[in-house]
Amino acid sequence: MSMSLSPQQSSVRSTSLEESLTPVLRVRDLSCFYGRTKALEAVSMEIYEGKVTAIIGPSGCGKSTFLKTLNRIGEMESNLRIQGKIELFGKDIYDRKVNLNLVRRLVGMIFQQPNPFAMSIFDNVVYGVRAFSRPRESELNRIVETSLKSAALWDEVKDNLDGSGLDLSGGQQQRLCIARALAVSPKVLLMDEPCSALDPIATMKIESLIRELQKKLTIVIVTHNMQQAARVSDYTAFFSADENRIGQLVEFDQTAQMFMEASQQNTRDYVAGRFG
Ligand SMILES: Nc1ncnc2c1ncn2[C@@H]1O[C@H](COP(=O)(O)OP(=O)(O)OP(=O)(O)O)[C@@H](O)[C@H]1O
Ligand SMILES: [Mg+2]
Repeated sequence: MSMSLSPQQSSVRSTSLEESLTPVLRVRDLSCFYGRTKALEAVSMEIYEGKVTAIIGPSGCGKSTFLKTLNRIGEMESNLRIQGKIELFGKDIYDRKVNLNLVRRLVGMIFQQPNPFAMSIFDNVVYGVRAFSRPRESELNRIVETSLKSAALWDEVKDNLDGSGLDLSGGQQQRLCIARALAVSPKVLLMDEPCSALDPIATMKIESLIRELQKKLTIVIVTHNMQQAARVSDYTAFFSADENRIGQLVEFDQTAQMFMEASQQNTRDYVAGRFG
């Protein structure tokens, strides 16, 4: 089943009927503007619970903008204007009465460049926890251990928790940022090209971590690496940067379907590495 999203043909397969999927996030008719620049146009899609969704498309198609609307980080940037509706667990996150801290706690974010703070590994992990609550020391110790284990970093740093987060390797820093995000018990993790600054081995570690983490939470990952999208994601959304349809969702489907026989020629060209 497909539905039209724009004057030109789009394909969004409704797989929820087949697999009984639960949408964690529901994006309805989302358009975004930086001043007069349109970054996204009339995007409608759902992010399913416990699944990894990859966002792909050429540079400038609005991938990062899309991600940043999902936890309202985008509006911290000066002039991003948003139309449409985004629901998290059925609640409109752009409602005036929404608790912004709660939205950002439930929907964590990992960036392209690892960004640990200039403080100890321990303090990095519990940074958000301390911002949201006043836990006891024993509770903090427990959270640090659990989060670092979940981020597959514990064994490498457990004897050096007072060491600076900045002294870790790039790959370790990214896993520290993941531990910091996990420490506040998010339900969704947004990752914007999380491996693009990492070497192949560090990338592999993050990829297998993503597959582990999806047992506990929902992940949305932006990637330029088609093999990575194919390896780590269950669903894929392809956005367009074509002049006449910038920021439109061209196609959304199960990843295997998108990579084997996407319904749109544009998608087939893009995943095959033929740009056009
Ligand atoms: N802070 C900003 N101010 C003004 N325009 C912006 C800003 N951020 C992004 N844009 C514009 O919005 C459009 C979408 O940008 P976005 O960063 O979302 O694309 P992207 O798909 O993530 O690209 P890339 O693959 O290069 O990271 C582009 O035209 C970009 O120039
Ligand atoms: Mg980007």
